[in-house]
Amino acid sequence: MRILKKLLTLAVSAVVLGAMASCSKNNVNESSGISLSAATEQSLITTPKETTLPSDTEPESKWGKAVVVYFSSTGNTKEVALKIASEIGCGTYEIVPSKQYTNDDLNYSNKRSRAYREQNDKNSRPEIEGTVIDLSSYDTVFIGYPIWFAKAPRILCTFVERQSFEGKTVIPFCTSGSSGIGTSATELTELAENKGKWLSGTRFSPSVRDVDIEQWLAALAEK
Ligand SMILES: Cc1cc2nc3c(=O)[nH]c(=O)nc-3n(C[C@H](O)[C@H](O)[C@H](O)COP(=O)(O)O)c2cc1C
Repeated sequence: MRILKKLLTLAVSAVVLGAMASCSKNNVNESSGISLSAATEQSLITTPKETTLPSDTEPESKWGKAVVVYFSSTGNTKEVALKIASEIGCGTYEIVPSKQYTNDDLNYSNKRSRAYREQNDKNSRPEIEGTVIDLSSYDTVFIGYPIWFAKAPRILCTFVERQSFEGKTVIPFCTSGSSGIGTSATELTELAENKGKWLSGTRFSPSVRDVDIEQWLAALAEK
C-alpha cells in the first residue's frame, strides 16, 4: 500500500513538472533564450523590419531612399506624383485633410469659401488625417501640391512645420491652371527653417505628358 502511494505521488509530480515546462516555453525566445513579455512578443511580430541590402548589391541611385509626398484635391497633382514615383521606383505619401474639401470649399470665386479663407489666413493650419509619415530615414523628398491663389495650400504648411528636412534633398513640384510655382516653394522652405537642400520647384500643367515628367527627372538626375 505504501509503495502504491509513493508511485502515485511520483506520477502526479511528473505530470505537474511537464505542464510547467511546456508553459514556460511559450514565453522564451528559443534562439536568444531571453524571456519576452506577451507585449514584447506582439511588438516583435507586428513591427516591420527594414531590409538593408549589402552595399555591393545595393542599386545605384541618385536619389537614395526617396518618397513622393503630395496633396491633391481634384487629382491633377496626384497623377503627376504617381508618375514620378513609378519612374523612380519609390513610394508615395498622400497628405489627406482630416476634413475633406467639398466642391463648395474649393470654389475660388467665392470669397467665403473654405479654400479662400484658409489661403487668406497665414496662420491657418488644416489638420492632416492619420499618422503623418516619418521622413527621418529618407534622403530625397518630392513634395507636390496644387497652386491655390498663387500659393501652396495651407495644409502643406501643416505638413512642412512637422518635419525635419535636415540632410535631405527636397524637390517641390506643383500643378496649376496657369500660374507658375512663384514663391510657393520658397515659402515652404522658410517654414522648414531653410533646413535641407531645397531644389527650385517646377510647375506642371494638369495636362502634362508623361514624357515631360520623364525628361524633367532625367535632367534633375544629371545635376
Ligand atoms: C481654391 C483654388 C485656387 C486656385 N488658384 C489657382 C491659381 O492661383 N492659379 C492657377 O493657375 N490655378 C489655380 N487653381 C487651379 C489648380 O491649381 C489646378 O486645377 C490644379 O491642377 C489642381 O490640382 P489638384 O487636382 O491636385 O488639386 C486653383 C484651384 C483651386 C481649387
